Amino acid sequence: MTTFRCGQTVSYRSVVAKSVRSQVAKRRTLHKSQNRCCIAFCWPALTRDVVLDPFFGTGTTGVVAKRLGRHFVGIEREEAYVSLAMERLEKTKPLDDDALEITKSKKFEPRIPFGILIEQGLLNPGTVLYDNKRRHRARIRADGSVVGADVAGSIHKVGAHVQGAPACNGWTFWHFEEKGSLIPIDLLRQQIRAESAAAN
Ligand SMILES: C[S@@+](CC[C@H](N)C(=O)[O-])C[C@H]1O[C@@H](n2cnc3c(N)ncnc32)[C@H](O)[C@@H]1O
Repeated sequence: MTTFRCGQTVSYRSVVAKSVRSQVAKRRTLHKSQNRCCIAFCWPALTRDVVLDPFFGTGTTGVVAKRLGRHFVGIEREEAYVSLAMERLEKTKPLDDDALEITKSKKFEPRIPFGILIEQGLLNPGTVLYDNKRRHRARIRADGSVVGADVAGSIHKVGAHVQGAPACNGWTFWHFEEKGSLIPIDLLRQQIRAESAAAN
């Protein structure tokens, strides 16, 4: 990997990755002076993604990248714009970590099948699950399915069936009993996710 000092003058070819170069070459032929004269800006102290702006101008892309804690590479041929961009970048401060924190959407969390809870011994076949008001019950089977009064299937399917609902999130609907209290099975799923995140 090539690294550059911030503001270092470098050749266009050394900055733009081979794949990008071949795309650029296909689309247009650069004048020789355009090809040679450009400035690479690199922000070395930050981690995470790298943003490339091959037409950096006065550096708006770099300013945003620096604020959002991204590496960036900028290429600009006009010295006047380079100076302006450098000034703007000097004044730009990265946002603090709290502001950059992104709440992960649940859909990006690793999928945990209900059967894993049985495989890992967190719940046993034969254990009875209840809804939070104990109106409905279902017994766990060894294969990770559950069986209710007149239906068998996944925790979601049986949860929906017993309520007469079109769909149900079985993870939040079903609870197991511990010392007289009802605990949502979702708690066990969260425990598995936390353990697997800690192991990676
Ligand atoms: C529209 S401006 C860029 C705006 C900038 N990306 C932003 O977000 O603020 C285009 C810039 O590309 C530069 N430029 C054009 N051809 C170039 C080349 N071959 N090498 C380097 N810079 C180039 C121009 O000097 C100009 O400053």
